[in-house]
Amino acid sequence: MQLNIIAAVAENRAIGYQNDMVYFIREDLKRFKQLTTGHTVIMGRRTFYSLPKGALPNRRNIVLSRTETDFPGCDVYKSLDEALQHIGADEQAFIIGGASLYKEALTVADRLYLTEIEAVPPHADVFFPAYDDGTWKVESREERPATDDNPAYAFVDYVRKDT
Ligand SMILES: NC(=O)c1ccc[n+]([C@@H]2O[C@H](COP(=O)([O-])OP(=O)(O)OC[C@H]3O[C@@H](n4cnc5c(N)ncnc54)[C@H](OP(=O)(O)O)[C@@H]3O)[C@@H](O)[C@H]2O)c1
Repeated sequence: MQLNIIAAVAENRAIGYQNDMVYFIREDLKRFKQLTTGHTVIMGRRTFYSLPKGALPNRRNIVLSRTETDFPGCDVYKSLDEALQHIGADEQAFIIGGASLYKEALTVADRLYLTEIEAVPPHADVFFPAYDDGTWKVESREERPATDDNPAYAFVDYVRKDT
């Protein structure tokens, strides 16, 4: 199984505020859909509740929760380890948030697909963990300029240094 992390991260690593995203960038949402469709997405309970239409279509949805079991259209597990044991060897899985799950998965993931947004939001209450400890190397970086609708950002793909 290939385990990926995908996130849109502000300059201060902010990823959310009041159970919502801090930036909505159309191209970023498109890329998220393109990369994850046909694969497995793994999310925490609160991230599930932040999805406007529930389970994401055309993907296997996995929700992690120790307190709830009923998430329509989703497989539910009580830990990341348990979820990973139920993912086939040829499946590709994407950790799609939130903060504690990102932190846990960062120690085991193979790749990071980050959208690094060159701005700091006025408010934030969840943050992506630090990933500048030398574990990750940039595999590709695609800069996008600011528009009337969004700040400048870059699609940055990282791989583990020892892979
Ligand atoms: N910018 C981005 O790319 C991005 C992506 C995703 C989310 N977000 C934002 O992040 C925020 C939500 O993230 P969050 O950190 O607050 O919450 P979250 O991680 O989505 O959900 C937390 C809950 O998930 C369950 N959980 C998490 N890890 C688990 C594990 N290893 N094993 C079992 N259960 C686990 C627990 O549920 P129980 O309490 O039921 O046990 C925990 O209380 C929202 O603001 C959302 O918009 C941003």
